[in-house]
Amino acid sequence: MKTIAFFDTKPYDRENFDRWNTQYQIRYLPEKLSARTAELARGADAVCAFVNDTLDAPVIAALYQLGIRVVALRCAGFDNVDAAAAQEKIHILRVPAYSPYAVAEHAVGLLLSLNRHIHRAHARTRNFDFRLQDFTGIDLHGKTVGILGTGKIGLLFQKICRGFGMQTIAYDPYPQPAEGLCYLPFDEVLQKSDVLSLHCPLTPATYHLLDAQAFSRIKPGAFLINPSRGGLIDAQALLVALQEGRLRGAGLDVYEGENAFFFEDRSTEPPADATLAQLLSHPRVLMTSHQAFLTEEALQNIAQTTLGNLDAFFAGAPLENEIPDPLS
Ligand code: NAI
Repeated sequence: MKTIAFFDTKPYDRENFDRWNTQYQIRYLPEKLSARTAELARGADAVCAFVNDTLDAPVIAALYQLGIRVVALRCAGFDNVDAAAAQEKIHILRVPAYSPYAVAEHAVGLLLSLNRHIHRAHARTRNFDFRLQDFTGIDLHGKTVGILGTGKIGLLFQKICRGFGMQTIAYDPYPQPAEGLCYLPFDEVLQKSDVLSLHCPLTPATYHLLDAQAFSRIKPGAFLINPSRGGLIDAQALLVALQEGRLRGAGLDVYEGENAFFFEDRSTEPPADATLAQLLSHPRVLMTSHQAFLTEEALQNIAQTTLGNLDAFFAGAPLENEIPDPLS
C-alpha cells in the first residue's frame, strides 16, 4: 500500500479524504511543509500539500532526496511551487477546478457584507446596540464591476453580478466572450470600476498587480475584492489607499503574508505583522482566512480529484492535472 505524507492537515481534510480513500495509507501531519518539516515525508511514496505549504527549490530537493516523485496539491493555485526546480524531478499535480462556484459566491458575500456593513451590524445588534449610524451602503444595481481575470471563477462572478443588474467590464490577456461582458485595457478597468474584483493567478507577471501606482488610478470610492492570492496586492499600498479614504472598502480572503497566520489560532499572540494588524482594525476592511474554497462540494471534489491524480501517477497513466511546464 502506497503512503501519502499529508501536510497541513485540518479536520475537514481528514474527514473528506478518509471518506473517499480506499487504497492509500495517509499519514496526516499537522505541520506545514517547509525545509524544516520535509523530513516528515521520509518513507512516504507521495506528498499531499495545500496553498500555504512551501515547495521552493530547497524543499523540492529535500523531497527528491527522500525518493518522492509526486506531489499532489489539493488546491488550484500553484504559486507556492518552484515549477522550474520540480521539472524532471517531481511531478506536481493539482486540482484545477473543484468548485469555482464556492469562490465566486464567497467573493459576492464579501462585497455584500462590506457594502451593507453586515458584519459590523451583527456585532452591534449582538450587543443590543441597534443604531444604524455609519451603515449606509450603495445600490449595486447599475454600478460597474471590473473583473481582473475572467477564467472559471471570474466568469461566474461576472454572471452573479449581472444578476444584480451591474454593468460588467474586464481585463484579461486572454479574453473569453461572455454575455454582457466588455473587455477594456487594464487602466480603463481601474478607472471605471465601482467594484474591482481580482480573479487571476499569482505569477511573476501579476505580483503586486495592484501597487501604489495602480491604487492612484483606481476610481475613487471603489470597493476592492480579492479572493485570489495575497501577492496580487501590495498590502502596504492598499493600507495607504484606505487610510487616505480612496477606497470604499476592501474585502480580502487572502493576504500576502498569510502563510504565517492563516488557518491557525493566533489570537493569544501579539500581532507579528503591523500591516495585517492595521488592515484588520480598519473599519473598511473585511477579511476572511482563505476560506473561499470551503464548501462541502469543493472538499469532496478536492479529495476525489487529488486521489484520482495519485491513482493516475501510480498507474503510469497520463497526468491530466500536472501543473503547466514553466518553459511553455
Ligand atoms: P483560471 O485559470 O480559470 O483563470 C485565471 C484567469 O486569469 C485566466 O483567464 C487568465 O488569462 C487570467 N489572467 C492571467 N494573467 C492575468 C493578468 N495579468 N490580468 C488579468 N487576468 C489575468 O483560474 P480560476 O479557477 O478562475 O482561479 C482564479 C484564481 O483564484 C486562482 O489562480 C487562485 O489563485 C484563486 N483561488 C482562490 C481560492 C480561495 O479559496 N480563495 C480557491 C481557488 C482559487
